[in-house]
Amino acid sequence: MVDSLAFRNAMSKFATGVTVITTLDAEGNPHAMTANAFTSVCLEPPTLLVCVAHNTITYGYVEEQQRIGVNVLCEEQEELGRYFARRPEQREGNPQYSYTAGQHNVPALDGSMVFFNCDIVGAHVYGDHTIYVGEVKEMRQDDQEVNPLMFYDSQWYHPAHE
Ligand SMILES: Cc1cc2nc3c(=O)[nH]c(=O)nc-3n(C[C@H](O)[C@H](O)[C@H](O)COP(=O)(O)O)c2cc1C
Repeated sequence: MVDSLAFRNAMSKFATGVTVITTLDAEGNPHAMTANAFTSVCLEPPTLLVCVAHNTITYGYVEEQQRIGVNVLCEEQEELGRYFARRPEQREGNPQYSYTAGQHNVPALDGSMVFFNCDIVGAHVYGDHTIYVGEVKEMRQDDQEVNPLMFYDSQWYHPAHE
């Protein structure tokens, strides 16, 4: 039997990029949460997946909207990565950020390296998470040369400056 904490520690050795998943609340206002359980699925059609915990506010909104934005963060957005990793009532500080509406009003977080605007085309409940498969309907990419924000060993990671 593998201990869950040991598993968590082992998974932390897998360095990842960091995204912010964006969706809309019932009033049509943007909502955002930090997520790194993200990968591509296939190229044709262009699909990706994200894993969303059932105890997040985001989960309810994704279930409702059946659409998500996935925003790939750059190093300069670390403060936002930290900010959106907390539930709204626990978010500290006052970082500056803005959104631009994508197709169907899915919010694109300004300043992100890439924005994927997806329709949810598959969902698989496993344990306390749902794996959402999203078909990419719109994509925006910032061509500026920036470093990606990364997460490794349970910390924000800056290999370019280590
Ligand atoms: C680096 C990092 C990655 C995370 N990845 C995920 C993830 O992939 N899925 C998830 O459900 N929560 C993830 N979280 C936790 C959520 O960001 C956190 O629960 C957040 O408060 C949810 O916000 P919400 O309840 O407003 O939706 C991650 C947190 C951090 C710091």
